[in-house]
Amino acid sequence: MQDRSPRPEDLDPIERASVDELRALQLDRLRWSLRHAYENVPHYRKMFDERQIHPSDLHELADLAKFPHTDKAALRANYPFGMFAVPRERIARIHASSGTTGRPTVVGYTADDLDTWASVMARSIRASGGRPGDRVHVAYGYGLFTGGLGAHYGAERLGCTVIPVSGGMTERQVRLIKDFEPEIIMVTPSYLLAIVDEMERQGVDPRGTSLQIGIFGAEPWTQELRREIEERLDMHALDIYGLSEVMGPGVANECIESKDGPHIWEDHFYPEIIDPLTGEVLPDGEAGELVFTSLTKQAMPVIRYRTRDLTRLLPGTARPMRRMEKITGRSDDMIILRGVNLFPTQIEELICRTPALAPHFQCVLTRAGRLDALTVKVERRPETDPEVAARAGDDLVTAIKNNIGVSVRVEILEPDGVERSMGKMRRIVDLRG
Ligand code: DLL
Repeated sequence: MQDRSPRPEDLDPIERASVDELRALQLDRLRWSLRHAYENVPHYRKMFDERQIHPSDLHELADLAKFPHTDKAALRANYPFGMFAVPRERIARIHASSGTTGRPTVVGYTADDLDTWASVMARSIRASGGRPGDRVHVAYGYGLFTGGLGAHYGAERLGCTVIPVSGGMTERQVRLIKDFEPEIIMVTPSYLLAIVDEMERQGVDPRGTSLQIGIFGAEPWTQELRREIEERLDMHALDIYGLSEVMGPGVANECIESKDGPHIWEDHFYPEIIDPLTGEVLPDGEAGELVFTSLTKQAMPVIRYRTRDLTRLLPGTARPMRRMEKITGRSDDMIILRGVNLFPTQIEELICRTPALAPHFQCVLTRAGRLDALTVKVERRPETDPEVAARAGDDLVTAIKNNIGVSVRVEILEPDGVERSMGKMRRIVDLRG
């Protein structure tokens, strides 16, 4: 793999600032953001008034803990445009989350917000090792989902050549990678795996393509999968994090120099970790739910937005900004099986350590009587003998029992047996009714 580290002189000034400078900037911006939300969004005014707290009560960053949280329910209750802080005519673009459960969550951006977004996305691509002139194959979905357009304008901003493929038509994805020779691909990790399988089907050597960097996000993925992808494609695999409510992709991104968890672009998004049950703020280093307050957003400021993503805040390394540990899962994706909590990422870790099995899997929950059961459906690798794969399945049962502490069933499927996603993979199939 090529050395792709950015030169220090190419970074934004704030990426080279001291932690003190960063904190001072955050305090200024936080004061503005709280006032902006309070004065222009009835929801925030009501919530602050009920708590008898006012933006002028913020004297230091830690005072943010006195302000109320916001969650997805608040956004739904104000559907579609009730959380906007500027007149509708100033909204330059709308995005929305899928809304598989109820109303979609709508978000809006002013022209300045789109500018900020493009700049943090350009910063993210550069942190991943991208440079002006690189060809960027964008296979995140275009549309209301923030992945495609977010990646697109960030890559343009950095001065790259953008190839706006969107998700789907996997055969064509492979052809375009062969013909246009992109250095960078931006795609969900699960869809990347489908593209790699298709390369192999077409007789294209995944290690021999032009790709040097993959920027993967929109769903959890593990260190084990990073190793698998880097080995199978001979390219750098970087983690990009974000969510529509806070901006879209580019809230945080890993640095290629360290690959040690996404650095949060704290000059725009202020992170906290809270205890998901009590809501209390936890010190850096402790695991809990990630909460964000936007510092510069005009159209839709978010104050202490509860992401439901579980992680820890870690000190900065390659940048002064804090890092988040690679996400283990969302509180919504936590499976509670006979009293044991587990996440699909823990299963992924163990599957990736089993050479006979492919990283295509789903967790199926069923109920027999009053007992919940979990079946892990996982594919054997095409080159693995079915009998060898069956034994690997038994080993996986033991590994899950020993590492996670629950008994599950493992069903080995033939290659292509698990439905491929073109975007976010559905890891949990809940048939409990
Ligand atoms: O998934 C934005 C995005 C697009 C991020 C492309 C990265 C790349 P939403 O559809 O609003 O936005 O979903 C946000 O996806 O709260 C996490 O649960 C999950 N997620 C996003 N990035 C990561 C990641 C986009 N790197 C939700 N690791 C978030 C783990 C992630 N989970």
